[in-house]
Parts: sequence; C-alpha cells; structure tokens
Amino acid sequence: MDKLEELRRRRAQARLGGGEDRIRRQHAAGKLTAWERIELLVDEGTFVELGRFVTHRATEFGMRERIAYGDGVVTGVGEVDGRKVAIYAQDFTFMGGSVGEMHAMKIARLIELAMKLGIPIIGLNDSGGARIQEGVDSLKGYGEIFYRNVMASGVVPQLVAIMGPCAGGAVYSPALADFIIMVRKISFMFLTGPKVVKAATGEEVTFEELGGPEVHAAKSGVAHFVANSDEEAIELLKRLLSYLPSNNLEDPPYVDTGDDPEREDEELNSIVPDDPMEPYDVREVITRVFDRGTFLEVQEMFAPNVVVGFARLAGHVVGIVANQPAYMAGALDIDSSDKIARFVTFCDAFNIPIITLVDVPGFLPGTFQEHRGVIRHGAKIVYAYANSTVPKITVILRKAYGGAYIALGSKHLGGDAVFAWPTAEIAVMGPEGAIEIIYKREIARAEPEEREEMIRQFVEEYRRKVANPYVSASRGYVDDVILPSETRKVLARTLAFLLSKREKKPHPPKKHGVPPV
Ligand code: HXC
Repeated sequence: MDKLEELRRRRAQARLGGGEDRIRRQHAAGKLTAWERIELLVDEGTFVELGRFVTHRATEFGMRERIAYGDGVVTGVGEVDGRKVAIYAQDFTFMGGSVGEMHAMKIARLIELAMKLGIPIIGLNDSGGARIQEGVDSLKGYGEIFYRNVMASGVVPQLVAIMGPCAGGAVYSPALADFIIMVRKISFMFLTGPKVVKAATGEEVTFEELGGPEVHAAKSGVAHFVANSDEEAIELLKRLLSYLPSNNLEDPPYVDTGDDPEREDEELNSIVPDDPMEPYDVREVITRVFDRGTFLEVQEMFAPNVVVGFARLAGHVVGIVANQPAYMAGALDIDSSDKIARFVTFCDAFNIPIITLVDVPGFLPGTFQEHRGVIRHGAKIVYAYANSTVPKITVILRKAYGGAYIALGSKHLGGDAVFAWPTAEIAVMGPEGAIEIIYKREIARAEPEEREEMIRQFVEEYRRKVANPYVSASRGYVDDVILPSETRKVLARTLAFLLSKREKKPHPPKKHGVPPV
C-alpha cells in the first residue's frame, strides 16, 4: 500500500511542476500553466502523458538541488475535437521552462512518435530558452529538436503557440513549424534580446517593439496569427487544425457545411468597378464565393496586398491565394511573394487544393524592391506553383499582367483549370505602359495639343485588342469566361472533378531541386 501511496504522492508532485508559488506567479502574469493549457486543448479524458517522471541529470551550478518531475515540459498524446494529436507544453514554473537535455529529449521523442503515428504536433511554448546551467547539453537538445522539426516538415502539420518568452536559438523550432500563433502582451520572439541589442548597437528597444506579436504578425511575417489570450490561442489552434489533414497521406477533413454549391450571387457581377484603377476588397469576393463563415485568413497583417487562407468549398478544404486590390493595387512585392510561396508549398504538402483569385497589376517597381531581391523572392511563387501537384484552379478577376500573370496559377505553370471574369485584362503590361513603347515614335511626333487624345485612343485600342479574356481563351490559356455570379458553382463543379487528381513530381526524378530563397 505504501508503494501506491508513494505513486500518488509523486504524481501530485509532478502535477505541481515548479511549485505552488510559481503557479501563482504564472497566473499573476496573465498566463495559464502548462496543464491548464493542455486541458483546454484536449477532449476531456483523452490525454495520455508520456515521460511524467523524467528529470534532468545535471549536477553543476546547484542543479542537484533543483529537480522537478517532467523537467519543465509536459508531453503526450490526446484528442482535439476527436482527432489524435501529439502535444508538448513547456512549463515556465520550473526554471522558466528552460530547455535542458532531458526536456529536449522529451520533445524530440514526441516529434518522432507523431511522425510514426501520422498525427499533428502542437507545441505550447513558454520558455526562457536553452537552460544555461546545462551548457552544451542544452544546445545538443535543441539541435535534436530542430533536426526532427525538419524531418517532420511536410509529413505531419506542426503548429506552435508562443505563450511566453521565446528567445535565442529557441526561435528556430517554431520557425521550422508550419504555423505560429502568438499571444498578445505575454509573448515575444527574438534572436537577441533588448539588452544585447543595446550593448551591440546602442539601440534602445522594448521586448514588445523588438519581437512582440504585432511586430511578427505585421512586419517580419514570422507569426501567422495573433490571439488576445491563452484561451483564444487554443481556440485558434483548434480552428486551424480543423482545416488540416493529420498527415501528408490523408486528405483534409470534409465537413458538410450545408451551403448550396450551386448558389449564385448576383452582387458579384458588380463587385469589380468599371474604372480599372479603382480598388475593391477581394475578401468580399472570397466570403461570397466560398462556404459561408468558413474563411480563415492566414498572416492577415503581413503583406496585406495579398490575401491567403483556408476555406471550404462544398465542404472540401481549399487554400485561397488572392491579390488584394484594396492595398497597393494588389501588386506583388518581396513580402507578398514569400507569403504566397510558403502558403502554396504548405497546401501542396498536405493535399489542399489551391484556388487563386488574380487581380494583379504586376510586381512593385523601384530600387527598394529590386535591391532587396524582388527577383529571387518573386521566383519563389513560380517555383511553388510549378512544383505543386495538388488541384489548382485560377480565376482571373481583372488585371493579370506580365510575370505576375504567369506566376499566379497560370496554365503554363500547371494550373488545372483557369477561368476569367469578363472584366479580365491579360497582357504583358498595363495599356498605359504598353502604348508608350509600341507607339513611342507616333506619340513623340504628335503636336502637343494632339498628344493627349492620341494616347487616349491608343489606350482604348490596346485595351480592346489585348486587355480582355477572349484572346487568352482563344488560345486555351483560359478555359472559360464565366459570369462573376456563377463563380461558386463553376469552382465547386470543377473541384469535384479535380479531387481525384494524381500527379507525381519531381519529374524527372532527382534528389531535390534548388529553390530560390
Ligand atoms: C536557466 C532560466 C532561463 C534559462 C529563465 N530561467 N531562463 N534558467 N536557463 N535560459 C529561470 C530564471 O533564472 C528564474 O529562476 C525562472 O526561470 C523565471 O525567470 P524570471 O527571470 O524570474 O522570469 P521573467 O522575469 O518572466 O523573465 C523571463 C525571461 C528571463 C525574459 C525569459 O528569465 C530571461 O531573460 N532568461 C534568460 C533568457 C536567455 O538568455 N536564454 C538563453 C537564450 S539563448 P529563479 O529560480 O531565479 O526564479 C538560447 C540559445 C539556444 O536559447 C540555442 C539553440 C540553438
């Protein structure tokens, strides 16, 4: 009986992590504990803890006296909305959730298990980084985690919520995952903190300004979502998971949304303004076309000139890529190229069909973009679309100019079906730029008072001849010109056929390509 009692006592101790005082401090900081987070995430009664009694074996710097069961991380498997997942939750109450050798081993083993089981990995991060007392053993531990993050990439979805500090090399594990959610006010991510920044450059910056959620959601693009609290972050994890298959051999979960696939929407017929320079919000198109209430935007604040996200069409999960004419006229630039390329690559890895809505005047011109390498960044979009094998459907809503036309899901890069609205203009460049080149001499020779009218006529002629969908349709680059109101119906019917698509790449076989970075 003593032995049973001892087990109960040890279990209770394990549950306390760094102790009651530390738990109080965790709550005072506006954070939940690792266990509270797990309990919010998993379906009741499904969690199986793995490695409950693991402890570190460090001896230096007073570590013999500082021991807690679990070593600052809870790992295990459980169900989320009835689906099996692997979960680790770092426990800040023990040594700031710092990552020592054994803490790292638990996470690394969990990732391996998730790969074998074909189940998503959810990380709840709250850690001061490498456990300083354990020195190089701690670095080795991180290395083992990173290695497995890379091996798991494209095999099982990896989702991470940053629910506290995430500093130094520790940031690379979430960066290697597929999605990062950050919690406002309590989370930050940076390679070097404010103190080091001050010492190295003299720059004074707060934690928030350096690596807070807003910074990573809007500027760096490191974070995909921002939540207002631990609870909201966990709700977001569940929602995100509902769009993802458990592994690369499965299809994403089908859900009967009850929205009629044949539903037409007359409002769409007048959504594109007559004036080609006038903006509109492409999210309006997305919410009208796809199943009601299913759109989940990804990286909403980063590069808002393009919109990417998941939705359902007739119950099937799709990934949406769309230019946003309401921001920078929907032009592509470095950040939006990265955003699209990563999203397309993710969707392709996990069997999520891609639907692209095009209204793009081209790539953003100027030295700022060119000198920072818009060429190699833009090339990522081409690489991602051309390399992908999932069903790809493209709808050209209005402008589709130049390289941006090719890059964004054109037939030439393997688009399976390309449709255009009657408002589509598909050309090498916009009419104004084009006629300046074609009619350079005529315009130069014209009397100044005639020039304006001449340009107007040339523009009109160009638009009539080139900037419409019928030239492309006559070549078969556009499969059909459709009424905007029937977009949902056409997409749903087309997707239904494309779902059985099977294509093998790389072709020809090779070790791997060398993608632009
Ligand atoms: C050991 C750590 C620790 C760490 C925190 N603690 N981080 N112990 N190694 N990395 C301990 C603290 O000593 C403290 O213990 C307890 O956790 C809680 O920390 P506090 O400082 O009281 O909490 P708070 O004020 O909230 O500050 C959190 C913090 C701060 C901002 C994370 O602790 C901090 O700056 N820690 C060091 C961060 C760091 O430099 N990490 C290494 C990054 S480099 P006691 O018992 O004293 O209360 C790295 C390289 C990885 O990670 C390389 C991988 C490739």
